[in-house]
Amino acid sequence: MQDLKGLILSGGAGTRLRPITHTSAKQLVPVANKPVLFYGIEALVAAGVTEIGIIIAPETGGEIREAAGDGSRFGAEITYIVQDEPAGLAHAVLTAADFIGDSPFVMYLGDNLLRDGLSGLVSTFREDRPEALILLTPVEDPSSYGVAELDGERIVRLIEKPKDPPSNLALVGVYLFSSSIFDAARSLEPSWRGELEITEAIQKLIDDGQRVQSEVVRGWWKDTGQLADMLDANRLVLQELETRLQGEIDEESRVEGKVVLEPGARLIRSVVRGPAAIAAGAVIEDAYIGPYTSIGEEVVVRRSEVEHSIILFGSVVEDLGTRLEASLLGRNVKLTRHEGMPKTLRLLVGDRSEIEIV
Ligand code: G1P
Repeated sequence: MQDLKGLILSGGAGTRLRPITHTSAKQLVPVANKPVLFYGIEALVAAGVTEIGIIIAPETGGEIREAAGDGSRFGAEITYIVQDEPAGLAHAVLTAADFIGDSPFVMYLGDNLLRDGLSGLVSTFREDRPEALILLTPVEDPSSYGVAELDGERIVRLIEKPKDPPSNLALVGVYLFSSSIFDAARSLEPSWRGELEITEAIQKLIDDGQRVQSEVVRGWWKDTGQLADMLDANRLVLQELETRLQGEIDEESRVEGKVVLEPGARLIRSVVRGPAAIAAGAVIEDAYIGPYTSIGEEVVVRRSEVEHSIILFGSVVEDLGTRLEASLLGRNVKLTRHEGMPKTLRLLVGDRSEIEIV
């Protein structure tokens, strides 16, 4: 079998994570202080797939190129492919036709995270050689996904975002294909949402009697396209960190549980209760950082409590007088308070916002 290539889809408008995605690609939002996209690249490389194409959108492509570069630091060789319009996953596959050639390939949606990586799947695909191998997982709201109807192990039907789902088995955003997916994708008409749906292309393979196999995900899977899922992914990844304390901790500070404190981060009269990650240059002063929190580079948290949240580069949280929880703050956000009664805050705040609670 020819060597597998990798195709990571990193276009898309990220409408469900606005306003963060007004100024930044959703695939670059960090989980445990590492961009979501990098988990995908690393998972491909770990599965032996190093020739990787990344589909980018004209608006956010520059930023993604800058972040992932030529791939050498991941041990990969990255080619960027511009998809002019967000016309669907099958459209993205067709856009990558020259890059893929007649190789089999792993397609990976750039905002997806898989706990157990791709190695097992890649070996199953290499051994069984189906035309497509898809990944399924039970979800609570199947109508938000592509859904599979099975008869025993056999896939009977795949439907994109069904109003009346035939099962709770959602298609995970990781697919292994032989090049026969190209003919199937070329035969499609746009769906009701105006996209060429990969789900319909796979259905076409099934209709044509081609072998399509499925596996149910072991370990967890997250599509980080929405705030709650992003925070959940952050929680799951942080849980698996090993403690590494390389920053400065003064005598009046305390660190409990699994905590990563990068070099140059400073704790001053503060308590950090892990799992939590605090990036280089962050200053935590007279503050409490609670479980499932990722504090980005150069962030300042002073006289405030933060829990189960993600705070991006350069933001400042000061004098809140109440606990910030289940929140995602963009880059260079300023969140401060003058005085007043403490109340709970739940926020989704974009880059460069300034919030003052008075
Ligand atoms: C896409 C696919 C869908 C799949 C999902 C997984 O949905 O169309 O079949 O279940 O990714 O993340 P979209 O992100 O385009 O809504």
